[in-house]
Amino acid sequence: MKIIHLSDPHIYTDKIHGIDPVSRFKKALDHILKNHSDADLFVITGDITDLGDKESYQLFIKIIQDANLPEQLYPKLIIGNHDNREEFKKNFPSIQEDENGFVQYFKDLENKRFIFIDTNLDDEDKGYYCEDRQAWLNKTLNQTSYDKDIYIFMHHNPLALVKEETDEIGLQQKEEFKKILLSSKKNIKHIFFGHQHITSSGSYCNITFSSPRSTWFPLISNFSNQYRLGTANTDTNYNIAIIRSDGIIIHTEDFLKTEVNWIE
Ligand SMILES: [Fe+2]
Ligand SMILES: [Fe+2]
Repeated sequence: MKIIHLSDPHIYTDKIHGIDPVSRFKKALDHILKNHSDADLFVITGDITDLGDKESYQLFIKIIQDANLPEQLYPKLIIGNHDNREEFKKNFPSIQEDENGFVQYFKDLENKRFIFIDTNLDDEDKGYYCEDRQAWLNKTLNQTSYDKDIYIFMHHNPLALVKEETDEIGLQQKEEFKKILLSSKKNIKHIFFGHQHITSSGSYCNITFSSPRSTWFPLISNFSNQYRLGTANTDTNYNIAIIRSDGIIIHTEDFLKTEVNWIE
């Protein structure tokens, strides 16, 4: 099974920090169409738009429609801190929500369950996972049969990617989230997230994880003792996950690099 994981397109009607998010997102979709139209699932892990406004969501919808992706690749969406939950729901009325109105749902494909969760807190960059949302996740995990492999998609990083003290914008309920992962007896295989706009991979509570950069604005990892964000001439990317019965492989696609010299 092949999964496309793209994050943080930050769609907006103008350039942001001198970069056009729309043109870059379109290039990513074009790259996907040319190279990965055989994928089984396409997920965008939040910060769909930069300001969570109607115009930007409508622009996003138009870009997706114009991209002519195969039907199975109409993207599964979750919200990030730059999105607005109420506006998102108005623009995507068919996307499921949980019993408390959070954008949380799951999709079963073959022997796998893909769980999409909502870590948005109004007007905050930090991630938030309240007790109601935790209860939904616990219930969903409990109701998943033991023979299903589980993959979680979220916007915010569930663990500090370098040091706790420099992770000002990650998930705030890290301990609570960790407890859910550790107490679940089910087969959670991988966590996909975005938000920090940096490529990361590793394992947490014995579950592997990965994040791509933003398609709009890649950032630099912060190894200092103080919270900071930085940019350089780093490429944007999206990720490809190849899921096999015996493992998972994560590739990063630097989609702006379209000239490939295949060595004969
Ligand atoms: Fe973002
Ligand atoms: Fe974010």
